[in-house]
Amino acid sequence: MKKLIRILGLETSCDETSVALLDVGVRGETVRLVKHVISSQIDIHAKYGGVVPEVAARTHVAEVVSLLTSVLGRRPLEAKGRATAFDAIAVTRGPGLATALRVGIQAAQTLAWITGKPVIGVNHLEGHLASAWLLPENRRRWTFPALALLVSGGHTELVVMRDYCRYDVIGSTRDDAAGEAFDKSAKLLGLGYPGGPVISRFALKGRDDAYKLPRPMLHDASLDMSFSGLKTAIRREVEIGNREPFGFAQGRLGTGNRSINDLCASIEAAIVAVLVAKTIRAAKQTKAKTVLLVGGVSANTRLREDLTRAVRRELPKVAMLKTPVKYATDNAAMIAAAGAWRLLRGETHDWKKLDAEPELSL
Ligand code: KG4
Ligand code: ZN
Repeated sequence: MKKLIRILGLETSCDETSVALLDVGVRGETVRLVKHVISSQIDIHAKYGGVVPEVAARTHVAEVVSLLTSVLGRRPLEAKGRATAFDAIAVTRGPGLATALRVGIQAAQTLAWITGKPVIGVNHLEGHLASAWLLPENRRRWTFPALALLVSGGHTELVVMRDYCRYDVIGSTRDDAAGEAFDKSAKLLGLGYPGGPVISRFALKGRDDAYKLPRPMLHDASLDMSFSGLKTAIRREVEIGNREPFGFAQGRLGTGNRSINDLCASIEAAIVAVLVAKTIRAAKQTKAKTVLLVGGVSANTRLREDLTRAVRRELPKVAMLKTPVKYATDNAAMIAAAGAWRLLRGETHDWKKLDAEPELSL
C-alpha cells in the first residue's frame, strides 16, 4: 500500500489564487509541503479600497492555469510516477465569493474529469484550522478538545474542536469580523487596504493608551463579540483630529499632541483585548487542552504575543498552537491539509455535484 498521499490543493475563495502539493502519510504521521504558490490580488483591490468580487473572479481565471502549470508542469497528465503526480484534489467550496469560488471548483472538476482522481470540497474555515497543523511542533502537541480562535476578514469565531472534523462554534461576532474592523478602521484613516498589516505597522510606534476606544462585550458572560462600535468611535476621533491645525488629513499629528500612530496602537489594543479575553474565557469553559490561533488576523504580532502570554498566565497546562505567519492569510497549503483530514476519514465528494457554497459554516 502507498505510504504517502499527494494532495493537490486549490484556493480561490477571495483575493488570493493559490495552488499547493502536499504529501501526507496514510495515518497523518508525515506532512510535507512539496510545492506552494500564491498569487495575491491585493494590489489590484487596493485601488478600490476593498475586494471587488467580479474583479477577483476574473483575476482568478487569469491566474489559475499559470499557477497550476508552475506546480504541476506543462504536461500534468504525463506525470505518472513523477514528482508532480497527485492522488487527490482538495478545493475550497465555501464560504467565500460565489464567482471566485467557482473558478477553483471548475479547475478542480476539469482535473478530476481527465485524471479520475477523487475530489474533496473543502470548507475554507476548516482550512484555516488545518493551517496550524502544517507546523510539525504544533502537530506533536495537538490534543483534543482544542479551542480555536479563528480570526479572518470574514469571520471571528471561537470553535471547540472535539476531534479532527468535529466542531462546535461557541462564540462569534455579532457584526463585523476582527479583520473587517482592522480594514474599516484603516479606510477611515485613509491608510489603504488591507488594514491589518498597515495598522499594526503604525501601531509599533504608537502609545496604545492614548485613545480610549470601546471594548464591546469585554466583560459580559457570553462568548460573542462585536466590533462595529469601533468604527463610530474612530470616525469621531478622525473628525476631531481633522479640525486641529495639524489634523489627520494634513499630517501626522492629531488632537492633543496624539499621533495617528497612537490611534492605530489604540485600535489594535482594543481589538486584541476583546479577542484575548473571550478566547481565555472560552478555553476555561470548555476545559480545552490546546488553544489554536488561526486566520488572516493571526498574522498580527500583538495578538500572537498577548494571547500566548495570557494562556501561559491563566492556563499554564494548556498548549498554545499558532498558525505560522506565512500560512495565516489565505493559501492552498491549508486547503490541502484540511483535504487530507477528510480524505484520511474516507470522505470525498462527487465532483459533478460540487458547487460553490458562499455561506458555508463549520
Ligand atoms: O484569512 P484571510 O486571508 O481572508 C479571509 O478568509 O477573510 O484574512 C484577511 C484579513 C484581512 O482583514 C486583513 O486585514 C487581516 O486578515 N490581516 C491582519 C494582519 N494581516 C492580515 N490583521 C491584523 N494584523 C495583521 N498583521
Ligand atoms: Zn481565509
